[in-house]
Amino acid sequence: MDTKMIDIISPLTNEVIGQVKAMSKKEVGAIIQKAKESWPAWRELASSKRMEYLYNAADLLEERADELAEIVMLEVGKDKKSARTEVMRTADMIRFTVDIAKGLNGTMIPAENFPGGSKNKYAITNREPLGVVLAISPFNYPVNLAASKIAPALVTGNTVVFKPATQGSLSGTFLANVFLEAGIPEGVLAVITGKGSEIGDYVVVHKDIDFVNFTGSTEVGQHIAQQVRMIPILMELGGKDAAVVLEDADLDLAAKHIVAGAFSYSGQRCTAIKRVLVVNEVADALVDKIRIHVMELKVGNPADTEGGLDVVPLINEKAADFVEELIIDAKEKGANILCGGTREGNMVQPTLIDHVTTDMRVAWEEPFGPVLPVLRVASMEEAIQIANESEYGLQSSVFTKDVDKAFEVARKLEVGTVQINNKTERGPDNLPFLGVKSSGIGVQGIMYSIEAMTRVKSTVLNLS
Ligand code: NAP
Ligand code: G3H
Repeated sequence: MDTKMIDIISPLTNEVIGQVKAMSKKEVGAIIQKAKESWPAWRELASSKRMEYLYNAADLLEERADELAEIVMLEVGKDKKSARTEVMRTADMIRFTVDIAKGLNGTMIPAENFPGGSKNKYAITNREPLGVVLAISPFNYPVNLAASKIAPALVTGNTVVFKPATQGSLSGTFLANVFLEAGIPEGVLAVITGKGSEIGDYVVVHKDIDFVNFTGSTEVGQHIAQQVRMIPILMELGGKDAAVVLEDADLDLAAKHIVAGAFSYSGQRCTAIKRVLVVNEVADALVDKIRIHVMELKVGNPADTEGGLDVVPLINEKAADFVEELIIDAKEKGANILCGGTREGNMVQPTLIDHVTTDMRVAWEEPFGPVLPVLRVASMEEAIQIANESEYGLQSSVFTKDVDKAFEVARKLEVGTVQINNKTERGPDNLPFLGVKSSGIGVQGIMYSIEAMTRVKSTVLNLS
């Protein structure tokens, strides 16, 4: 039977830049079974040996940074500089993961602390791997968001079946090959390729998968969460991160961070600032400053330039269609488009929309594009209320010089992380990263990922 292949088309050139296999369920099943069979030996291997492989992988990744950055650029449209930064950041993250894993220690808990407990009884605890980890990554960080699942899983003795986003699978396969070349045995890490809509349901419920670590849209994440067996899951999903700007904020600082947060990589980041909630007193001044920064953004096609760009073509035309729908809806309902608002193919111009109201879709939906809606509010309380009405709860920013107010807003916002006087962002990769409500389940971030992909094992010693 002929193997079905999927063409990977660059969002920058519209050309086919490679192909990946559309694997059948049978092929995928065989890979999962091999991962299960490979687990006992990998788990039993001295952890120092597993660590050595991962250090090798980090070194190799750095050596290949330019080559991989070129693939990332062409495959997901990231500008070359950011693509390279992603690769280098990932090498650092892999090393840091090993360093944290070195500090994993067990405990000894005496039973005698409990009323009536025996002096001769102790629980000795350590952390054990879960088994086969299914790592599913999105298109927008095809290297970093894959390695942030693979490295903590491997170092702690899990085997990994890695399903990259189809648009991202050339980069993902390159990354996996780096791990294999670094010494990770075949079967311990394997890539499966094919459309999530075709093989996804089969893999997530497979009896030999022991943990699902997913990053992607809320729609797909919720679909997976409804199906999985009784196994642990980690979900990093969509967001509608708000920047709350209070009357005493440093408006220059706020405008600078808001624009960088909203528009870098065309807003195709889960942590992009996706709405501004500004109090009326300073709204005009803030919007003026934001508009000036937006006009200065570097817009273009990364295939045509070596330098850094902020706004680049979106991942595909469908994504641009969706963004355009949101802009048109806001315009028809009376919002002011202060700049941008146009698109050509998958290139959407950076768009700033003022006087957005809560009846407009762009106030609530995640555009995953270069669009920033500004909602003017009467007070800090109204800003918090609107921020919390969102179904999402990934991150938020608050801009104010008043530390008491900053902490009050941070406490009241229903999100995983609040940034005080900075844009919303995941990095650095050792910080905890999580979403609440429809933005996720569980905590990512090097130490937290290691915890999520291991479980406590308790052995009780009963002395005579
Ligand atoms: P997506 O469409 O949800 O795809 C994510 C991954 O899920 C891809 O590998 C996809 O494979 C796979 N998939 C699709 N259907 C599946 C199914 N039924 N079962 C199992 N897997 C399935 O997301 P995306 O467009 O790549 O990424 C953008 C979204 O991810 C945004 O919503 C963004 O906010 C979110 N995101 C969140 C975080 C975070 O940490 N919170 C980080 C980055 C991105 P195919 O490509 O083959 O369809
Ligand atoms: O797309 C979601 C990424 O996790 C965002 O990461 O904030 O470091 O760009 P970042």
